[in-house]
Amino acid sequence: MSSKLKERIQLKKATVGVIGLGYVGLPLAVEFAKGGYKVIGFDINDRKIHTLLEGKSYVLDVPSEEVKTLVENKQLIPTTDFSKILEIDAVSICVPTPLRKTKDPDISYIIDAISRIKKYFHKDLLIILESTTYPGTTEELIQKEFEKMGYVVGKDYYLCYSPERVDPGNKKYNTKNTPKVIGGVTRQCLELGYLLYSSVIDTVIPVSSTKVAEMVKLLENTFRAVNIGLVNELAMMCDRMGIDIWEVVDAAATKPFGFMPFYPGPGIGGHCIPLDPQYLSWKAKTYDFYNKFIELASDINGNMPRYVVMKINEVLNRHKKCVNGAYILILGMAYKKDVDDIRESPSLEIYKLLKEQGALVEYNDPYVEEFIDENNNKVKSVELNYSDLQKYDSIILCTDHSCYDYKAIANNANIIIDTRNAFRGIIKENIYKIGAPTYDNIDIYEYIKEIASTKERMGI
Ligand SMILES: NC(=O)c1ccc[n+]([C@@H]2O[C@H](COP(=O)([O-])OP(=O)(O)OC[C@H]3O[C@@H](n4cnc5c(N)ncnc54)[C@H](O)[C@@H]3O)[C@@H](O)[C@H]2O)c1
Repeated sequence: MSSKLKERIQLKKATVGVIGLGYVGLPLAVEFAKGGYKVIGFDINDRKIHTLLEGKSYVLDVPSEEVKTLVENKQLIPTTDFSKILEIDAVSICVPTPLRKTKDPDISYIIDAISRIKKYFHKDLLIILESTTYPGTTEELIQKEFEKMGYVVGKDYYLCYSPERVDPGNKKYNTKNTPKVIGGVTRQCLELGYLLYSSVIDTVIPVSSTKVAEMVKLLENTFRAVNIGLVNELAMMCDRMGIDIWEVVDAAATKPFGFMPFYPGPGIGGHCIPLDPQYLSWKAKTYDFYNKFIELASDINGNMPRYVVMKINEVLNRHKKCVNGAYILILGMAYKKDVDDIRESPSLEIYKLLKEQGALVEYNDPYVEEFIDENNNKVKSVELNYSDLQKYDSIILCTDHSCYDYKAIANNANIIIDTRNAFRGIIKENIYKIGAPTYDNIDIYEYIKEIASTKERMGI
């Protein structure tokens, strides 16, 4: 192992590069900089680099004041100049890994980042891939490229894979206190990667290969996708059977062992859960292995927006109305609460389907000022005026942002379709939850609520 690099890391004299300063890369770059390293942050997006140079953050979890101080003190140097790779000792790659239209992995961003590293490669560089990808990528894509240049891994340079687990919007867990898994191609690679990451991250978990580390991330996200798929299927079944899935999950979750609650919703979104399992399933096929759970979950989750629209049709019908011509307000365009990310958001699909069926649709999202619809039109978030909600035939709650006043919405809206159980505890006949019957037995709900609040008051 390069003792010079080891010493530079131990003394925090090493310069760390981060390629791709998005939701994952920016918090990581900031963590390295706060941890005492000089950090060079690379991105191909001029606008992002300019914003950072002005001391502003575009990632909700990273405060602008932090960026400002680090940039002013030259602890974080954002740049589009990739020749600065010559100055770094280690580099983490955090570029996107989307899917192509055919649902095949699009690893072109990783290939591009590697070609930039190759151009300014120097011996002893520690390279850590962070982007979520199929098992084998680090060795098949990166190690092979450097082999072609005549460089031996573990001797001329060091190569690791460490999946990013950051959960945007999570107030408890961040880059620093979320345990981080890392695998190296050789023992030397792992030792250096472990040393670097454990100097800024609270807990680092070493595993025996990059393939294991790659698979860890895919297991985590496949586990989520499959369990969400299961509960979504049960929600549609409960809807038909007249059972409230939310109540079922909450009651089941009181079992102190052997059960972990997952909740239904309008579908899955973001850059991870809808995509990552597809990376695994694609790779498995090259081994003649077909992942039935992944395909099934993807099918169920992918069809949830259609189920929500069907529910809207049903509810409007009950009120002698129809979607065609209805004035509808969608609350929440982001894929989950309290974030500004709309990638793969089911709200976008619901918006599109309702428009196709002739509804007049508006949306409000305090985190998403505008989005571009499928016809390339800019759609802007409308102001949420609680006292004026009567004008809509129906409100569709797609994202349960914490800042919404649910009582005010319930008291002012005509019909509410709740896809997240955001109106939990508010029992009103105008609220229709997905995966649940209508509130026709309000009495019993009131009684349960009474007991719950008595228990709470008495501290039981
Ligand atoms: N967003 C999440 O919650 C999350 C969580 C865990 C893991 N991940 C994974 O992390 C990776 C990054 O995701 P993200 O959400 O941060 O994406 P992002 O789109 O927010 O950020 C990626 C950044 O990389 C830049 N970029 C693209 N190509 C580049 C190149 N060749 N050189 C330099 N910069 C380049 C883009 O301009 C962008 O700023 C993905 O593989 C994703 O699956 C994301």
